[in-house]
Amino acid sequence: MADLVFEPLAFKNLTVKNRVFRSNISGRFDNYDGSGNQARINWEVKFARGGVGAIISSFVPVHPRGRIIPYYATIDRDDRIPFWRAVGQAVHAHDCKFILQLSHGGRQRDIPDLEHPKGQSSTDKRDPLHGFECDRMTVADIKEVVAAFAEGARRAREAGLDGVELHGANGYLITQFLSSAINDRQDEYGGSLENRARFVLDIVKAIRAKVGHDFHLQMKISATEFNNALLILRLEKPGNTVQESAQVCQWLVDAGVDAIHVSTGSSFPHPRNPAGSDLDVELLSQTYDQLATSGTTTFRNLLLFHGHVTGELFRKQWLDAGVPADEIEGLTLPDARAIKQAVPVPIICTGGFQTASVIRKAIADGDCDAVSIARPLVANNDLVAQFAAGRDRAERPCTYCNRCLLHVVESPLGCYEESRFPSREAMLREVLSVFQPPPFP
Ligand SMILES: Cc1cc2nc3c(=O)[nH]c(=O)nc-3n(C[C@H](O)[C@H](O)[C@H](O)COP(=O)(O)O)c2cc1C
Ligand code: SF4
Repeated sequence: MADLVFEPLAFKNLTVKNRVFRSNISGRFDNYDGSGNQARINWEVKFARGGVGAIISSFVPVHPRGRIIPYYATIDRDDRIPFWRAVGQAVHAHDCKFILQLSHGGRQRDIPDLEHPKGQSSTDKRDPLHGFECDRMTVADIKEVVAAFAEGARRAREAGLDGVELHGANGYLITQFLSSAINDRQDEYGGSLENRARFVLDIVKAIRAKVGHDFHLQMKISATEFNNALLILRLEKPGNTVQESAQVCQWLVDAGVDAIHVSTGSSFPHPRNPAGSDLDVELLSQTYDQLATSGTTTFRNLLLFHGHVTGELFRKQWLDAGVPADEIEGLTLPDARAIKQAVPVPIICTGGFQTASVIRKAIADGDCDAVSIARPLVANNDLVAQFAAGRDRAERPCTYCNRCLLHVVESPLGCYEESRFPSREAMLREVLSVFQPPPFP
């Protein structure tokens, strides 16, 4: 019998050769001003060569004020099109599709760039963990950003890419509108679920008006928000339920969305996304200093992480709000199943996948149609080729230690779990291999 993992997946406007997608994973590979460079191309090619059916890109800002950190390539201007065309061509050379994630950070950002010290959001309230400040968007601001998403989709299409994904998950701007815990507006963009969904539905309609109906468009959504999962956020509201998200997905599909990518958690990072087997607070306190002046409580947090007792308390809280290590693989499947039952389009599920038999079962059981993988592919770029060769799991799997995540605001993205390598030098060689070939050979 044919292996379900390697069955092609047909969306309305796109066919992908197998059921494993590289999930979005951002890293500081590009230039300060948002122009792209060769390291980004090298990064994406690693996964295309390793056998994934499609790559869903990192966070790509559609608007200059929507950046979460400098050094991420943007798609906010026509002069970015040639770079994304080069990325697409490099990936296509390995028979792999490329879906670009259209993104806007809103108030949730790591390091503001020089030109945009303050974010914007559905609200004017600071985010409760880091204290990132923001301006409440006016209707004119909303219309400007909606148009920027549509222009981003047009540019992606002109670049010859295979589709776009709306980053509607993990606490960024679209979540800030959708979320019952964050959106406190009194106008037609706040209040009822229908009103909170208006922003993203406006975006979908604007994209369809701009690119037509024959270009792949999917939405990543945090199905359950768990907004008050952390003990220190217990006074916050819990946020959207999976039933509310299923309703939003039905509206999205009616408006022209071709697939749903199911994630979880109202922030990034969140104890459940990417769910960790541990939290290295010593490393956190080393790299979080990059954020020390980004929010009104980031310096306080830095001191907390540094303190022996307070750091340990935070680590414990974070892990308690997540899931046990042996439940990380497929932790979002129950939500994916609920959304799949609500909409007729294919469902991609993210969260911990790295075992062929688990992926096969999830598809066979009807929980999802495909999975997306981030960290286990960072650990083993050729994981899909290994599955194809008959291996069920990599010899040195991802341990979900989350050191890649903790390093990412400061150092190149890569696997920093030393126990997976023969030596620290071997680990660093692999991390730095993303700079080969160099931009100027
Ligand atoms: C370092 C890092 C960067 C990430 N960047 C993004 C991003 O830009 N956009 C996004 O939607 N998800 C992002 N994610 C989340 C992943 O796409 C994925 O959904 C999540 O890590 C769970 O999958 P995994 O267990 O396979 O890593 C990131 C995750 C990590 C670890
Ligand atoms: S550092 Fe490596 S092993 Fe740890 S979570 Fe990231 S990819 Fe997995």
